[in-house]
Amino acid sequence: MTVSLTTPRPLIAGNWKMFGLEASLDEARAVAAAVAQAPPAARVAICPPATLLHRMADALSGESVIVGGQDCHAAPQGAYTGDISAPMLADAGATLVILGHSERRGSYDETCEEVSAKVLAALAAGLEPVICLGETLAQREAGQAEPIVTGQARNSLPDDLSGQAFAVAYEPVWAIGTGLTPTIADIAAIHAAIRAVLVERFGDHGASVPILYGGSVKPENAAEILATPEVGGALVGGASLKAKDFLAIIAAA
Ligand code: 13P
Repeated sequence: MTVSLTTPRPLIAGNWKMFGLEASLDEARAVAAAVAQAPPAARVAICPPATLLHRMADALSGESVIVGGQDCHAAPQGAYTGDISAPMLADAGATLVILGHSERRGSYDETCEEVSAKVLAALAAGLEPVICLGETLAQREAGQAEPIVTGQARNSLPDDLSGQAFAVAYEPVWAIGTGLTPTIADIAAIHAAIRAVLVERFGDHGASVPILYGGSVKPENAAEILATPEVGGALVGGASLKAKDFLAIIAAA
């Protein structure tokens, strides 16, 4: 990927989902050590489960790997058993948060309006939101991928994002954890459509917001995907759990 002075650095973010115990911190340490030794073109983030967040932030303190959360509640505090607020993520050492992941939209019926409220909460806590969008297989097969994703973009991105650091991630639901990926042409088409919404909503700022691709990104396909027009990084699930694979993807950016 060619990065010009006006293009923000791409972002390669690892989403550990509900994987990882204390021993997994060694993988994060290995990523940070390699990034320190040979600074990559991309910014690098790891989003561990909440139980590891504070320990990872401590372990990586002073390193250039960003630590992030995987979700937050829209309220700063309250009687919401089991939930975690944006100020709590920031307090634990996170500087970024994934929002609207399809596993949350799907398993917890999160709507775009709820995602938008969470984005506001993240911004208020000083966190950089990474907002996920993506169509299901049925929607793609019905020829609806583009309207679904652009609709999610319009409804999940509040106006308050204007001028703020944030990223969008296109993650086709059917490509997550399946080993399947869209064709490069399909990735380019959806990313172009998302870019058009970002420019329409946020003008010049929208033209430079990184649009990540996510869904079965591996060392083997990372270079081709990351070289696709309008792809400004990757959101990586399974392949981010092992430092060796994640570093290979980082090196491809
Ligand atoms: P996989 O890379 O395991 O397909 O997961 C993608 C994802 O959901 C990242 O948020």
